[in-house]
Amino acid sequence: MSKVNRVWVMNKYADGPMENDNLVLKEFPLADAQEGHIRVRSMYLSLDPTNRVWLSSQYTYMPPVPMGGPMRGFVIGVVDQSRATGWAEGDIAYGLMQWADYSVIDPSQTVYMTKMSRSDGIPLEAWISALTMNGETAYYGMLIKGRPKAGETVLISGAAGATGVLAGQLAKISGTRVVGIAGGAEKCRALTEEFGFDAAIDYKQGNLLGAIQNACPNGVDVFFDNVGGETLDAALANLAMGARVVICGGISEYDKFGNPASIYGIKNYFALLLKRASMEGFVIFDFVGTLEHAKCQRSLMEWYRAGKLRYRAHVVNGMEQAFPSLRLLLTGGNKGKLVVRICDEIK
Ligand SMILES: NC(=O)c1ccc[n+]([C@@H]2O[C@H](COP(=O)([O-])OP(=O)(O)OC[C@H]3O[C@@H](n4cnc5c(N)ncnc54)[C@H](OP(=O)(O)O)[C@@H]3O)[C@@H](O)[C@H]2O)c1
Repeated sequence: MSKVNRVWVMNKYADGPMENDNLVLKEFPLADAQEGHIRVRSMYLSLDPTNRVWLSSQYTYMPPVPMGGPMRGFVIGVVDQSRATGWAEGDIAYGLMQWADYSVIDPSQTVYMTKMSRSDGIPLEAWISALTMNGETAYYGMLIKGRPKAGETVLISGAAGATGVLAGQLAKISGTRVVGIAGGAEKCRALTEEFGFDAAIDYKQGNLLGAIQNACPNGVDVFFDNVGGETLDAALANLAMGARVVICGGISEYDKFGNPASIYGIKNYFALLLKRASMEGFVIFDFVGTLEHAKCQRSLMEWYRAGKLRYRAHVVNGMEQAFPSLRLLLTGGNKGKLVVRICDEIK
């Protein structure tokens, strides 16, 4: 009997609030790797806010997922068939694959695909939480775009999440004072006690603009924004002269994708003029294959080994939990990097 591959496929685009049936889990016969392809058995699937964006029918920074086609996502897996140069059975692959037990892909045509070493003894959870996509996002956003200087004040929204805690630690390595914004007392406690932030603001307490003013009395030199909307507006009102605003994401607005009229309109943009500030967005794919990418991976590894890059993983079990768990990111239900364990680690 042929093996089965469970795949989450696009069923209905979400151009407005996400619904329970935007993706459906279907079973297909397991395909073999064709010439030039590898077949990867998924071990961990990364759940990311951008998955919500990819549910939209709109072209974002990537084309929409085809109707009826497999949902894409970052996966760590083991190569179980290879007909591609440079790849062997047993290799560990990380990259943009499918929400599926198995992905059959041409690694040379995939936007982001890397081979990971088995011999370094680093747990897969650390790879997927800190040393790959989220770590690289924090590195590019904070260090390349934010350019923090010792003694400056850095503010981070969505600070207790996968990217936020890493961005904060990189800002601390740069010698800055770091303030995080997160939802709830427990997440704020984790920021200062576990991740070395200097202060934390619970945005759910209200008056965010005033709370930033209190926590950043000399103004904000670097704002690393994961949230957008009213949070971005409150930060803009608190910029220091020459500030850098880095648009990493805007999760407060993601459930409005495909309906631009409903997206929050920024009011305090004159702060960019008055404070001679800049505001810049980026996507990690901009750096793939560059020299900076290699340097970033080396640096993340060094800091991780030196104990300077901590993470928290929030693991859910089973492929069938993938889409139902995505909502945790929009409600703040995730306590750290949200990943789905698809199967036990294959040694
Ligand atoms: N530019 C890039 O290349 C790139 C790459 C990766 C990620 N990103 C972006 O980075 C951001 C963080 O991603 P992540 O993977 O690290 O996720 P995450 O922070 O681990 O999880 C999302 C968090 O967002 C917060 N949140 C959700 N809705 C919110 C709202 N309405 N207002 C305020 N906070 C809200 C929640 O934290 P609270 O409990 O604190 O509310 C939630 O836990 C996202 O915007 C994502 O799109 C960008």
